[in-house]
Amino acid sequence: MMQDKLQAIQAEAISLIRAAEKPERLHDVRVKYLGKKGELTGLLKGMKDISPAERPKVGQMVNDTREAIEAVLEEVKAGMDKKILEAKLQEEVIDVTLPAQKKGLGHRHPNTIAREEVERIFIGMGYEVMEGPEIEYDLYCFEKLNIPADHPAKDEQDTFYINKEIVLRTHTSPVQARAMEKGKLPLRMIAPGRVFRSDEVDATHSPSFHQIEGLVVDKNLSFADLKGTLAVFAKELFGAETKTKFRPHHFQFTEPSAEVDVSCFKCGGSGCRFCKGTGWIEILGCGMVHPNVLEMCGIDSEVYSGFAFGMGLERIALLKYEIDDMRLLYENDVRFLQQF
Ligand code: DAH
Repeated sequence: MMQDKLQAIQAEAISLIRAAEKPERLHDVRVKYLGKKGELTGLLKGMKDISPAERPKVGQMVNDTREAIEAVLEEVKAGMDKKILEAKLQEEVIDVTLPAQKKGLGHRHPNTIAREEVERIFIGMGYEVMEGPEIEYDLYCFEKLNIPADHPAKDEQDTFYINKEIVLRTHTSPVQARAMEKGKLPLRMIAPGRVFRSDEVDATHSPSFHQIEGLVVDKNLSFADLKGTLAVFAKELFGAETKTKFRPHHFQFTEPSAEVDVSCFKCGGSGCRFCKGTGWIEILGCGMVHPNVLEMCGIDSEVYSGFAFGMGLERIALLKYEIDDMRLLYENDVRFLQQF
């Protein structure tokens, strides 16, 4: 009697399981037959009406039925899970032929490209790249460069004072003094960096711009070494046909001093719009380091001599990439920057 009932339950449960199409159906079957209020549990609760001698046998039979149903449930569930996974993999497969999403890659700024180009040239000639602080002592920015407090040359480099002793540096030349003071000779260095002047913004001026300083200190250096070095530099930067011209000039920290022009790389020197018809383009200031400067930085000017130069980085970038307005360099318009 009990056995028939169990067999009927088992058969019914198994056919329902086999007919199930989704996991939720299996769950329903589990609840209906094996759950706390399910049919098998119901039978076990009826055990108290069975004679004690029969109980273990009936208990065993109920358990066997439960296990049989469980086994089929597991089997069907496993089959279903596998099918679901396969369908999911099919659906989520990546199509490698689809066009990729483009990431906007960054781009080096024309100033950076120009700086790295200048660095490359001087590193190739054995120069070391150094840096100095943008917020500088008046002492290094002016005094040690032979520009005393009341000198008119200081007016030309009007700047931003933090206090009486500290300024935003007006040029990269103070790095010269810092390098010399370190006392390691001979010295061959360049120092790129940001400088500040109280200038109005226009096509060729900005209150903040960049320079690259150069300094060599050694025994037996002459103006010929300076000329040769800058001639090689100009050819490397603007092309092998580039000529250099040294015009006498005045800087407090060099004696003699000069400004250097390069032959116009656009017209080759015959005169064009680019060089304003002169055939020449000014690119830097330079000279032999003034003995006062050497001495103030602890170097014996009887034994050592030096040459130095300083150029505007923006100017180099504008020339090299034929940009006609410096403000474009600071607007950070990617459509502009991407061209270089
Ligand atoms: N410091 C100068 C300026 O800002 C540029 C310069 C000229 C640097 C001659 C030098 C130099 O080292 O020798 O105008």
